[in-house]
Amino acid sequence: MTQTLAFPEDFLWGASTSSYQIEGAAAEDGRTPSIWDTFCRVPDAVANGDHGDVACDHYHRYAEDIELVRSLGFRHYRFSVAWPRIVPQPGVINEAGLAFYERLLTEIERAGLQPMLTLYHWDLPQWMQDRGGWTSREVLEHFRFYASAVMDRLGARIPWWNTINEPFCAAVLGYGLGVHAPGHQDPYEAMRAAHHLLMAHGIAVELHREKKLTGRIGITLNMEMVDPATDDPADVAAARRQDGYLVRWFADPIFHGRYPQDMIDEYGEQARGMDFVQPGDLETIAQPGDFMGLNNYTRSVIKHADNGSLLRTEQVLFAAPVTDMGWEITPNSLYRLLKRIEQDFTRGLPILITENGAAMPDELQNGVVQDDTRIAYFRDHLAACHRFISEGGQLKGYFVWSFLDNFEWAYGYDKRFGIVYVDYGTQQRIPKQSAKYISQVIADNAVTLEEASR
Ligand code: BGC
Repeated sequence: MTQTLAFPEDFLWGASTSSYQIEGAAAEDGRTPSIWDTFCRVPDAVANGDHGDVACDHYHRYAEDIELVRSLGFRHYRFSVAWPRIVPQPGVINEAGLAFYERLLTEIERAGLQPMLTLYHWDLPQWMQDRGGWTSREVLEHFRFYASAVMDRLGARIPWWNTINEPFCAAVLGYGLGVHAPGHQDPYEAMRAAHHLLMAHGIAVELHREKKLTGRIGITLNMEMVDPATDDPADVAAARRQDGYLVRWFADPIFHGRYPQDMIDEYGEQARGMDFVQPGDLETIAQPGDFMGLNNYTRSVIKHADNGSLLRTEQVLFAAPVTDMGWEITPNSLYRLLKRIEQDFTRGLPILITENGAAMPDELQNGVVQDDTRIAYFRDHLAACHRFISEGGQLKGYFVWSFLDNFEWAYGYDKRFGIVYVDYGTQQRIPKQSAKYISQVIADNAVTLEEASR
């Protein structure tokens, strides 16, 4: 018995990437270092001392890469612009950097793909970090200058804009926990950085309107369902704190124009009276745009723990299948999350899944990567999306993370998220079996389930 889950006619099917993770050419055509170039040189910051100097060499192989995206049947391609290519020094626009993205867009257009351009996917110019990075309010005028340059040159060619990718990760992993660039460990810095990242989103939406660009614009948030480990009230309260930290701290300002009071109280003195919020800021931030981008990979299960952590929480893992990241595979959580987002935040505004996928311990054998567990991951997550849509949910598209194996931040090249295998020695691209699977899904505009797989 098979079941066919058909997607709406106008559903968007895309593949996602980001600049630092694939481009390489770190010092070419006037690009100056980003905070990731710096962070990769810090001993033990990144697995194996890996860095993005070459990565997938996409800067030189973009034409071949875009042709591959097209040949797999995708209709949309999400990429990000590297800020230090466009503005290598404060106030200086680098023509050669803009020219690269013009060439890339020409290939995307030739392939009949629709681009989604992300303005910020974590590669802050080092010169900006030297001025305090995202913790300094000065970043806003520099971001405006950069975003304006990109919009003026490329704006007419972009149907989909993403403002900021995952402000939580940029702020909390980068400035709070220190596992991402710039590697700081200060909760107050993380809150300041988060505020300025949200402001940058609002500024990009404002600029987009001012310039009367025709494409649609939205922010991408990483979100997870946060489940309490037990129904003990202490665990339930702990899960609520974690949800405040991960989800509401970012979504409440955007969709409700305020920070969550329970979390302000929770952070107490650490928030230093929220002195980084100026009059008018929340109005700037609360411009959700035309859609919300969602990146989702797993869920969190949380219990209360008096362990000295900021939120007195501990993450618990259930005996369930996990990806190569150790992340629980739990497709029904994506369905529940979409429901929750629509109810609490978007309320009918279109949602696009801008990233979903899985790292797996892939092996290339006789020229084939038989990544069945990744295929099952896609199938089951797409079934979850279908269920949400069939109940009237406003999910309008799904972008696979990732098109290529790439530089997985602090994990370096150890973790492979691609549907296309990259041999880093030769830069050969080899579509995995999951790429063929996704091609078929797109061609059918449907997911087929064997009864047993539900
Ligand atoms: C990021 C990607 C990253 C992926 C897998 C997301 O947090 O946007 O850049 O590679 O998750 O970790």
